[in-house]
Amino acid sequence: MLIGTDIGTSGTKTVLFDLNGNALASDTQEYPLYQPQNGWAEQDPLDWWNAVCKSVKNVIAKSGADPKQIKGIGLSGQMHGLVMLDKNDIILRRSIIWCDQRTQKECDEITEIVGKEKLIDITANPALTGFTASKLRWVMNNEPEIFEKCAKIMLPKDYIRYMLTGEFATEVSDASGMQFMDIKNRCWSKELLSMLGIDIALLPKMYESYEISGKVNEYASGLTGLCVGTPVAGGAGDQAACAVGNGIVKSGVVSSTIGTSGVVFAHSEKPAIDPLGRVHTFCHAVPGAWHMMGVTQAAGLSLKWFRDNFCKEEMAKAEELGVDPYVIMDKMAEETGITAHKLIYLPYLMGERTPHLDADCRGVFFGLSAIHTKADMIRAILEGVCYSLTDCMDIIRGMGVDASAVRVSGGGGKSPIWRQMQADMFGCGVQVLSSSEGGALGVALLAGVGTGIWSSVPEACDATISVKKTYAPIRENTEIYTKNHILYKQLYTSLKDCFKMI
Ligand code: XUL
Repeated sequence: MLIGTDIGTSGTKTVLFDLNGNALASDTQEYPLYQPQNGWAEQDPLDWWNAVCKSVKNVIAKSGADPKQIKGIGLSGQMHGLVMLDKNDIILRRSIIWCDQRTQKECDEITEIVGKEKLIDITANPALTGFTASKLRWVMNNEPEIFEKCAKIMLPKDYIRYMLTGEFATEVSDASGMQFMDIKNRCWSKELLSMLGIDIALLPKMYESYEISGKVNEYASGLTGLCVGTPVAGGAGDQAACAVGNGIVKSGVVSSTIGTSGVVFAHSEKPAIDPLGRVHTFCHAVPGAWHMMGVTQAAGLSLKWFRDNFCKEEMAKAEELGVDPYVIMDKMAEETGITAHKLIYLPYLMGERTPHLDADCRGVFFGLSAIHTKADMIRAILEGVCYSLTDCMDIIRGMGVDASAVRVSGGGGKSPIWRQMQADMFGCGVQVLSSSEGGALGVALLAGVGTGIWSSVPEACDATISVKKTYAPIRENTEIYTKNHILYKQLYTSLKDCFKMI
């Protein structure tokens, strides 16, 4: 058996798997998100640690497994969060996490110091408010007394590794999102660190994602129920972990995940960089491979926002029928028909990352007339999110990636209409997999490779992941969507300056 633990933003999910990739037991522990100011987001690393201990203990109890049968554990986690410890390993401040937006000034400073082209050349990405480098610089600028005391900097899942094993370590996929790495050479960039005034000794030792980075110590064994000596693999950032769990470990298939955000993820044999920085390029959890990832900030979030504010009736009906409200909303969208009677939705409720890198843009319903109904608005949201994912896909394909099949996952990946829409807009088959455990499965597989159960990540995926169903594109829909996508794109161009005014 293998364990995968995903330290997410709303909670930590731990799953125990057998070696066929079947989930034997699963447990989720939630924790708070602190928002001390508008646009700020912080979490307490001790909340993550308590959640990991509890959820590991619970899956062992629920499954009745003998902890000796657990051959390894893999860690996945929310990326980019900044954890700072002093020389006595005391946490210096709450972690500033991925969705915190306080650091635009620090991004401008980093770009100024390093130079835009050089920064993209070394780290494969422009300075982003979400990434760890700008968060650390914010602490340097605003809390110098804390920065002075700092002896170790680490990412959320790497803090959990430190607690489990005592090893100060990270791995290439998550470390890529810190923006301190030389992405081509898969190591810390001494040149960049020296330009930014950061001592390399503050950073953890770097592993490949499948490598065993440490073993569970006595202290952690007492709190989790795991045996002393259980191997802990490098693991991966949540997106790379999910990609491994979806089998995106070789060229030819890409994934599209609709969660709160939407992510189009592609494997690549080389570190291909978008010179405009519209998609992120990071090291993949597969040795010798990289990945590109386009992000729609408000994908599932758009539909959830509409449900919570305008679909009380549908929610009550769903409760009566014992179904998910999204099932009823999907049916309404299905019945209203393609292009929602000429209504277009731009999903920029939370600004956007791909393709616009614009924190100021906002959501739009375009073309509203008295003919439109709630059902049209739901359909327009589903279509708008897919246009945005198609923008991600077009950039990735434009970088030479073969995307002849797409694997869908995430909560939105469960909707048949959203699956078909993606097939129609991407113009290729959309595949649904037998397992929906994504990130937890991905890092359990990495632990299996690290402990020698499988000889490579692709072999582990082949042994455990299979395609359950494929949605083929409907040609006439593809033609209609392709035409409409032109207008969708034109709308951002036309409104770009207006967004700044509100
Ligand atoms: C990736 C990203 C999110 C976080 C939280 O760049 O910001 O996926 O890792 O899930």
